Amino acid sequence: MRFDNQVAIVTGAQTGIGRAIAERLASEGAAVVLADVADAEPVAEHIRSTGARALAVRTDVSDETSVAHMVDQTVEAFGRVDILVNNAAIASTIELRAFEQITVSQWRRMQDVNMMGPFLCIRAVAPHMRAQQQGRIVNITSGTAFKGAPFMLDYVASKGALMTMTRALARELGKDFITVNAVSPGYTLSEGNLANKEFLSSYRDAAIQGRAIPRDGWPADIVGAVAFLASADAAFVSGQIMAVDGGSVYH
Ligand SMILES: NC(=O)c1ccc[n+]([C@@H]2O[C@H](COP(=O)([O-])OP(=O)(O)OC[C@H]3O[C@@H](n4cnc5c(N)ncnc54)[C@H](O)[C@@H]3O)[C@@H](O)[C@H]2O)c1
Repeated sequence: MRFDNQVAIVTGAQTGIGRAIAERLASEGAAVVLADVADAEPVAEHIRSTGARALAVRTDVSDETSVAHMVDQTVEAFGRVDILVNNAAIASTIELRAFEQITVSQWRRMQDVNMMGPFLCIRAVAPHMRAQQQGRIVNITSGTAFKGAPFMLDYVASKGALMTMTRALARELGKDFITVNAVSPGYTLSEGNLANKEFLSSYRDAAIQGRAIPRDGWPADIVGAVAFLASADAAFVSGQIMAVDGGSVYH
């Protein structure tokens, strides 16, 4: 029970990789807050049925007021914030599109959720982590930013930014013993990706062929790396980007 008496916020935990991360952290003792724009109460109920503590808070990570409310709710319910996993993103719902066809409003929305969302969440938890002189922040980036995947330039740009934010924030927050790292999944069969047939047909086989370990990736493959970076074992690891993609990119 590595996370006994610890409190973790996982954004975008209603489904997919975020849900798997929340369930893993809870199974190792953390009280988890599921911060999602969709209703994550069924996930919270499921976690509570295992004996762990969980709270679903409807949150739009791109909205400053909504994020502040979510962190207030977390502290009110559980008293502290030890771990933040920035997982929420416009991800499995994106439509593949040539870059010339990306509208300005689509571009802005992508950056608001995928890049500003983590900024707002980190800014809101930082005072609590600083007061504790302890904290773990894990940003979920994407292998597309290493590889330069086509037809999703707005998404790739947002994840590239999150990688550089990880490095820069590690340097700002390290003096308060707050680590900032990233996990960079390869193409992963979350429920959302399984439902996105265009994605499946465009990426699944190519992803497998590009891997040292030639098989599908699943949400369960991602959670171990996140849990490690969120744990005491990673106290001296910061500013790192860990690819969890079956050995697809080496960097
Ligand atoms: N699945 C993959 O192949 C893959 C690969 C690389 C990186 N990733 C990253 O992993 C993470 C999870 O991927 P997934 O496939 O499980 O995604 P998904 O699309 O299935 O789920 C995303 C979750 O984020 C929530 N969300 C969306 N906008 C939000 C907002 N504004 N505020 C709060 N919550 C919001 C959604 O409701 C949903 O629960 C994402 O950051 C994604 O970019 C996924």
